[in-house]
Amino acid sequence: MDLPRRRLGRTGLMVTALGLGAMDTSQSPEGAATLRAALEAGINFIDTAREYAGSEFLIGQLVRELREPGGAGLDVPAHDFPAHVGSKTFSHTLDGSQRDVDRSLSVLGLEQITLYQLHDISTPAAYEEAMGANGALEGLQVARYRELIRSIGVSSHNLEVAEQLIRSGEFDTIMLEYSAFYPDSRPLIELAHGLDVGVIVMRPVGGSGRTSVMRGRLAAGDAGVLTPANLLRYVLAQPGVSVAIPGASYPSRIAENVATVARDEPMSESEQRALEDAAARLY
Ligand SMILES: NC(=O)c1ccc[n+]([C@@H]2O[C@H](COP(=O)([O-])OP(=O)(O)OC[C@H]3O[C@@H](n4cnc5c(N)ncnc54)[C@H](OP(=O)(O)O)[C@@H]3O)[C@@H](O)[C@H]2O)c1
Repeated sequence: MDLPRRRLGRTGLMVTALGLGAMDTSQSPEGAATLRAALEAGINFIDTAREYAGSEFLIGQLVRELREPGGAGLDVPAHDFPAHVGSKTFSHTLDGSQRDVDRSLSVLGLEQITLYQLHDISTPAAYEEAMGANGALEGLQVARYRELIRSIGVSSHNLEVAEQLIRSGEFDTIMLEYSAFYPDSRPLIELAHGLDVGVIVMRPVGGSGRTSVMRGRLAAGDAGVLTPANLLRYVLAQPGVSVAIPGASYPSRIAENVATVARDEPMSESEQRALEDAAARLY
């Protein structure tokens, strides 16, 4: 199944519209199998962070296995890691962000990390610290100059701060929450798109609590329109979204999400409004 690809903003890279959010993957007994399933399905963007316990380590294990003779038995064309990895630092300082890049490189076993992001810049104070003199952004700029990272992004949970980050001109990508449960980011996605800032969508299917309720309803046959498949279609209906990164702990989730995104069925405006209404009524 071929996954559609989209431009990741100023990085100029083409990424599969479906990525993998690997925040919780390493906590699952099927985590390694889930990561392998993602790569075998052709997913070429994996999101991780220094802060996600064991996540970089899980990816690093596969990076190393792929270099062994036989390529870890993985059915992918190259013996080098076949996906772009995006990681993040929580540090707001020049030294701290550089140290985190060094640690990420060593844990991931990569010579260069495609995308390194400032993690959760969601308050004006965090913005000032990380973007000011001797701030974390400067550290990432040094790391980019040294070719330890290829591009620089940022994630935010605050709409006003996120707008400032997009307009700053400093970032190749921005990670935003966006879903039928949280449609408020749509104007920012359009703004970022217009400025060629790649948009990575976190929590695209509403997070683990909501998806667990949805799975119960699906099993009982009364999910209605509120399904993970429709939620992914909703996110990807925005042309400004480069990649959605649903979290997954099982290979079956990968298979289902890949099937949805490969079908590439556009979602009409009226379907989007109906999904937002259903999402608002979930609880
Ligand atoms: N930068 C930040 O501050 C930040 C914050 C939050 C998240 N993130 C990133 O965004 C990613 C996604 O966020 P998230 O995991 O919080 O929310 P999410 O992707 O909206 O939801 C993840 C949940 O959806 C379930 N799921 C996925 N596909 C499914 C399917 N086809 N059918 C049924 N259930 C399905 C997963 O179940 P299983 O786990 O059981 O497979 C998991 O519990 C994270 O992994 C992380 O990389 C970043």
